[in-house]
Amino acid sequence: MKLLVTGGAGFIGSAVVRLAMARGHQVVNVDALTYAACLDNVAMVADSPSYAFEQVDIRDRAALDAVFAKHKPDAVMHLAAESHVDRSIDGPSDFIETNVTGTFNMLEAARIYWTAQGKPESFRFHHISTDEVFGSLPNDPSVQFTEDTPYDPRSPYSASKASSDHLVRAWHETYGLPVVLTNCSNNYGPYHFPEKLIPVIILNALAGKALPIYGDGSNIRDWLYVEDHADALLLVVEKGAVGRSYNIGGENERTNLELVKTLCAILDQKRPKETGSYADQITFVTDRPGHDARYAIDPSRIREELGWRPSVTVEEGLAQTVDWYLDNERWWRALQDRHGVGERLGVKA
Ligand SMILES: NC(=O)c1ccc[n+]([C@@H]2O[C@H](COP(=O)([O-])OP(=O)(O)OC[C@H]3O[C@@H](n4cnc5c(N)ncnc54)[C@H](O)[C@@H]3O)[C@@H](O)[C@H]2O)c1
Repeated sequence: MKLLVTGGAGFIGSAVVRLAMARGHQVVNVDALTYAACLDNVAMVADSPSYAFEQVDIRDRAALDAVFAKHKPDAVMHLAAESHVDRSIDGPSDFIETNVTGTFNMLEAARIYWTAQGKPESFRFHHISTDEVFGSLPNDPSVQFTEDTPYDPRSPYSASKASSDHLVRAWHETYGLPVVLTNCSNNYGPYHFPEKLIPVIILNALAGKALPIYGDGSNIRDWLYVEDHADALLLVVEKGAVGRSYNIGGENERTNLELVKTLCAILDQKRPKETGSYADQITFVTDRPGHDARYAIDPSRIREELGWRPSVTVEEGLAQTVDWYLDNERWWRALQDRHGVGERLGVKA
């Protein structure tokens, strides 16, 4: 299949590009190269004749039309987005422009292209979204997000992603565009940009800095290894039912404090300090405004209908992630000077 992947220089998009190419797909990577992008993430496939890169901003509709006309993809996997909740609190307008207007542009460019091609039934527009659109759950294991959970976004980021999900469903109902949607829990793994919780903890630990925990650390997230997510996304674009959405989760719920303590224990084993534990560096800081208490995914639909399951536990995935950061210092050092990285963001509200 020829896949047009947006956001393919980001964290999850680059995992999709690498896995898709390893499985024999052709890839057109469309990315504006914002602060969150890193072309090193796809350097290992960049010279392949099956790979093309287009530096295009999804806010630029004319440029998108040209990309569709030039490359004639069989399917779109739309991941390009502003993705950091703390940045959405300080500067929501980029989130509306890219996540809402940019998705609208992608849908229109795809619809016009698909119509000109004779509306092939095999075409897919796969929209990649988040579990954060569903809001916040109580700390009760019997309650999880299903595909039917009503939307209740509570941050500018999640509201912009919820808006984009609604647009995608509307383009299916109104124009018949063959869409599939996925809503996924928190990802972690190699190439995770060093402003997100897990790389911040690993890199601050190694630098002897404080390990910041928002509030009391009781917020619960479900963690999914990024390569398992990429595997699920390729399965959905190939085999998912048109018009259907699939929740993707790691079945790995942890409080933020438990997660950080696990990371510290792994680091204590792999790169021991001269004295004490990395856990001694844990520091509690002001909470994020509107911090959702718990996200938890019920992945029954993708498991039962498409046969997908995560391949690693969170302990296995975190150990692999720590190894990757220990082995790839050049990669993360180059990103630490980017605007806002290493600063506490999202506390102005
Ligand atoms: N990270 C997670 O835990 C998570 C969980 C569920 C869903 N998602 C969704 O998955 C997708 C990818 O997330 P990520 O963590 O890899 O994000 P990321 O921030 O690492 O990467 C986003 C990529 O999109 C590109 N981009 C941003 N604005 C653009 C624009 N206007 N035009 C073209 N390209 C643009 C960036 O340059 C970057 O390469 C997003 O849609 C996000 O909402 C993420």
